[in-house]
Amino acid sequence: MTSSAQRAATVPDGPDHPVPRDPVPGLSQRPCVLRVSGLVAGYGDLAAVRGVDLEVHAGEVVALLGPNGAGKTTTLLTLAGELPKIAGEVRYMERPFKGPLHQRVRRGLAFVPEERSVFMGLSVADNLKIGGRSARVLAMFPELGPLLGRRAGLLSGGEQQMLTLGRALAMKPKMLMVDELSVGLAPLIVDRLFDALITTAREDGTAVLLVEQQARRALRVADRWYLLSRGVLAAKGNASDSDALWESYVS
Ligand SMILES: Nc1ncnc2c1ncn2[C@@H]1O[C@H](COP(=O)(O)OP(=O)(O)O)[C@@H](O)[C@H]1O
Ligand SMILES: [Mg+2]
Repeated sequence: MTSSAQRAATVPDGPDHPVPRDPVPGLSQRPCVLRVSGLVAGYGDLAAVRGVDLEVHAGEVVALLGPNGAGKTTTLLTLAGELPKIAGEVRYMERPFKGPLHQRVRRGLAFVPEERSVFMGLSVADNLKIGGRSARVLAMFPELGPLLGRRAGLLSGGEQQMLTLGRALAMKPKMLMVDELSVGLAPLIVDRLFDALITTAREDGTAVLLVEQQARRALRVADRWYLLSRGVLAAKGNASDSDALWESYVS
């Protein structure tokens, strides 16, 4: 196992203070929550993603990395049921994963899309009421407490993302899919959000699939990664195999 100090040394412009993380042995032996084989996905006849195989096990954080336009969002939207798949097999808890998003949500999926999905015109308190379990969200992100009366549209990007992620995690989902969580946010806020992901994965056994363009940031939270390049999987590895990632990463 690579220590976090060694890992920081292999991540060239990683942050000064890598989140210390206990290595978790045997994660891949845990139940497979999501199993994707030969996925072809895209828009009409245009296959933007071709032949993707990936797995996410209970309790692990898996990053789907790649430069802009690689097909990350297309993959995630298809896995969430927002886009029809063109070909391939998607299994969830070892059974076919089919139907629109709301059916998949009933089976324990939480999906945080690229656009922040808070109700901008409602207060933070009302946003939490709609999601339910507001106490759990406030325990996760206490900084939302003083903002309960504020309209969500007036929050900073980081606060909106805490609200969005907090609502998704408070459901204790079996699987969380999240697209570009860190975009436009300050590193300290990203740390808070990533810590919440790790905690949920470890404590609730949630399988987390995290799409990130910023590979260095994602490697600080992910147990494993897959790299998409121009619609195909170019490489995969454990968090400690970052050299393999940088060698394959072409933007
Ligand atoms: N709505 C769409 N219609 C047609 N092509 C699209 C659409 N959205 C994305 N694409 C194309 O699919 C490819 C993959 O895009 P996307 O999945 O958004 O990549 P990423 O999330 O990795 O940046 C790109 O070539 C993009 O131009
Ligand atoms: Mg995208």
